[in-house]
Amino acid sequence: MSSSKKSNKDILQAPRGMRDFFGDAFIHKQEFFQYAETIAEQRGFTGIETPIMEHTEIFLKGIGDGTDIVDKEMYSLETIGGDQLTLRPEGTAPIIRSYIEHGMGSLPQPQLFHYSGPFFRHDKPQKGRYRQFYQFGLEVMGSRDPLYDVHVIETGYTIVKQSGQNIVVKLNSLGSYKVRQQYVKKLVEFYTEHKQELAERDQSRIQTNPLRILDSKEETTVAINQQAPRLIDYLDEDSQKHFNQVQMLLEKIDIPYVIEPFLVRGMDYYEHTVFEYVIQDNDGNESFALGGGGRYDGLAEMIGHTKSVPSVGLGLGVDRIIETTHNNAFRMEEKKDVPLIITDDSLYAEALGVIKKTTTVNTQRIFLYPLFGKLSKQLSRIEKEGYQTVIILGEDEFKKNMVTLRDLKTQTQEDVRVEDLQTYLS
Ligand code: HAM
Repeated sequence: MSSSKKSNKDILQAPRGMRDFFGDAFIHKQEFFQYAETIAEQRGFTGIETPIMEHTEIFLKGIGDGTDIVDKEMYSLETIGGDQLTLRPEGTAPIIRSYIEHGMGSLPQPQLFHYSGPFFRHDKPQKGRYRQFYQFGLEVMGSRDPLYDVHVIETGYTIVKQSGQNIVVKLNSLGSYKVRQQYVKKLVEFYTEHKQELAERDQSRIQTNPLRILDSKEETTVAINQQAPRLIDYLDEDSQKHFNQVQMLLEKIDIPYVIEPFLVRGMDYYEHTVFEYVIQDNDGNESFALGGGGRYDGLAEMIGHTKSVPSVGLGLGVDRIIETTHNNAFRMEEKKDVPLIITDDSLYAEALGVIKKTTTVNTQRIFLYPLFGKLSKQLSRIEKEGYQTVIILGEDEFKKNMVTLRDLKTQTQEDVRVEDLQTYLS
C-alpha cells in the first residue's frame, strides 16, 4: 500500500479542504437547511436521501469525460469486494439512479425532491471551494413542462435571496442534445482557427470538451470567446419555444434574470435551460455562484435506462451561502428552548429530576444547561446565546418544590411550582 508518512501535526488537522462545524457555524448551517427545507416543502418538494457513495460508472456516464469533476476531482476507490465506488461529487445522477431503481416512473409525474448533505470533489481548496462541501438540492423528475424549470428557479431564488445579497439569475439555453451537437461542430471549427491564441489548457479541450472552453477563466481565452459563435443563435424551434416560455414565466413572477449566452455549466447532462445564482456587489462586480442547475432530459438514458426521464433541478452551495451571510439570516423563530440552571453543583440530581418530570417529546423543551458554576456567569452566557427565559433551581426553592422563572428581556422573575412549569411556559 502506498502512503505518504504524515507527522503528528498533520494528522491532528482535518484533511485538506475539509472542515469541522461547531458552535455558531454549526447552528448557522443547520438553520440554513431548516429554512431551505421549509421553503421547498411549501412548494411541494419532499425529502430524499441516497448513499454517500455510488458505482463510479454512474458519474463517468452522467457527468462525462472531459469535465473537471470526472477528469480530476473524484474520490474513487476499490472496495475489498472489488466494487468500484465513488464518494458522490453531486446529487443529480444518484437521485435519478434511485428514481429508476425504485420504479418511480409509475408514480404520479413529476416527482419533486429536496435533499441536503455533504459532497466531495478533490478540487484545489480556497475560499468558497472545499473538498467536502454541502449542497441543498432540488430535482423535479418526469416532466418536460417549462413551468417546472421556473418552479425550481423560483424556489432556489427565494432561498438564496434570504441571504440579503444582491442576487442575479444568469440564464441560458443549451438547446436539445441534437442542436448542441451541431453547435459543437461550429465551435470546434472556430477554436481550431484560433488555436494559437487560446490558453494551453484550452487548446487540448478543442477535441475533448470544446463547450468547457466557453467558461474558461484563462485571460487569453476569455478574449477569444467574445467572438465565438453563440448557442442561442442556433436553437431549433422547440428549444426556442421552451426557452421563451421559461423567460415569460420568470417575468410573470418577477424573478430578475439576465441571459448569459456562454453559460454552459460543468456537467454533460444538461439540455435546454441552465442557470446560476450569482452575487453582484454595488459596483456590478460578480463573485462566485451560490448555486446553479438546469434541465437534464437525457441523463436517465446516459446512465443506462431504456426510457428518457425529462427532469430539471438545482444545487445550492451551502458553504458559500453561509459564508456570505450573517449568523442568523436563516433563523425562522426566536430560540424557544428554556435552559435550566442550578445555583450549586450539589443540585445536579434534583435538576435532572425536574427535567424528567416536566419534559416529554410533546412539550416545550426544557434542558439542563451544561455549564455549571457561578450563577452570574451562567446567566450572562445564556443571555448572549439569545434565550428569552431561564429557569433557576436553588436550594430553598427546591425544598418548596418551586423554581424561579426569569424573563431575560424584562429582567423580571417569579417563583413557579415544578408541576405548573409547562403550563406557565406555554
Ligand atoms: P454544481 O454547479 O456543480 O451543480 O454545484 C452546485 C453549487 O455547489 C455550486 O454553484 C457551488 O455553489 C457549490 N459548489 C460546487 N463545488 C463546490 C466546492 N468545491 N466547494 C464549495 N461549494 C461548491 C451540481 O452539483 C448539480 N448537481 C446541480 C443540479 C441539480 N443540476 C440539476 N440538478
